[in-house]
Amino acid sequence: MNTPPTAQRVVYLDSAATTPVRREVREAMEPFLSEGNFGNPSSTHRLGRAAREAVEQARRRIAEVIGVEPGDVLFTSGGTEADNLAVLGTALAARSAGRPFAVAVSAIEHKAVLASAKAVERLGGEAIILPVGDTGQVDLDAVGAALEQGVALLSVMWVNNEVGIVQDIPELARRAAAANTPFHTDAVQALGKVPCSIADQPISLLCLSGHKMGAPKGIGALIARSRQMLEPLLHGGGQELGIRPGTENVPGAIGLAAAAQLAAAELDATAVTTRQLRDELERRLLAEVGDAQVNGAGGTRAPHVSNISIPGANSETLLMQLDLAGIACSSGAACDTGSAIPSHVLTAMGLPPELAAASVRFSFSKDNTLDDVARVVEVMPHAVERVRKLSAALEGR
Ligand SMILES: Cc1ncc(COP(=O)(O)O)c(C=O)c1O
Repeated sequence: MNTPPTAQRVVYLDSAATTPVRREVREAMEPFLSEGNFGNPSSTHRLGRAAREAVEQARRRIAEVIGVEPGDVLFTSGGTEADNLAVLGTALAARSAGRPFAVAVSAIEHKAVLASAKAVERLGGEAIILPVGDTGQVDLDAVGAALEQGVALLSVMWVNNEVGIVQDIPELARRAAAANTPFHTDAVQALGKVPCSIADQPISLLCLSGHKMGAPKGIGALIARSRQMLEPLLHGGGQELGIRPGTENVPGAIGLAAAAQLAAAELDATAVTTRQLRDELERRLLAEVGDAQVNGAGGTRAPHVSNISIPGANSETLLMQLDLAGIACSSGAACDTGSAIPSHVLTAMGLPPELAAASVRFSFSKDNTLDDVARVVEVMPHAVERVRKLSAALEGR
């Protein structure tokens, strides 16, 4: 009889891609998934009223974490929808009001923001892409020029998902406010990683996503301090004040609130743990793989992300080797029909395309350990050697 293969322990170093649902979050959601508490928040009977109260409590909790009013919190289907609503919704409202139909976004934004800016362009507006320097910081002169020209929105992400670059959000928000321009920040990778209360900052819009911090996939929020500046992208009922119609994801909203509260409460402890693991990984990997380099190392980085380029080691092939060894991480590059497209973030930071296409991202959670780091350091030199040999063979060298 064949014995089943023993399950390989997976070293999960891809928390910037997604996280498992936390036990506390699942427990908070559970009562709203089944009998007794399954009401539609728009129903007037007692089941509906209980669901409404749960959604409004979740809204109050998120508002408290971010330092805004409960009425500023709009639930969405995730970070992508929140980014679309922020960028496209603001641009469309500006066009309707006869203000500039233009948005300025940084070159290293997530595709949810960049593609929304491109959608503005396709609709006849303007998308200004703001360059970044070699440490990933957005060029303040370019920001100044865009604000002077007049745009409906300035959008710069708080923490970059591929490299972990942290932007000077208070300063950018201040400059935008001085130019009377709404400011949006994608905080999907920021909540729970860097302090994110915006109580005393002139930030008009901020996006969150649940599945990056222990809530399920498919729930997020847009913090919108002024609804007048947003045109809805979806049309339907009057939910979320008509800005985001559709029956509310009641368990999702409860889960997002629970996860956001935990993430904020554990911020300092998470930072200490992840920074220690990241620094240890980088120190040991650079010692083992001589010509590797840490991207964005000279800049301000969030503690949970490490992006490393290894000359000659195609990222997609390297990821496969690491996966075979039970290590789950990712590349910044999107994979298009099997060929690695160099990351737009790394190329915007000045990396040559061949080095950008030879980069891997390790992202940590508070549940990772030094054993996880040791496993990567053990596996990596052999994996890199194999990938380089493979690439050389393919190129006929
Ligand atoms: C910075 C950033 N913004 C937006 C998103 C999209 O969020 P969601 O997966 O909830 O649509 C992600 C997810 O990868 C992200 O990292």
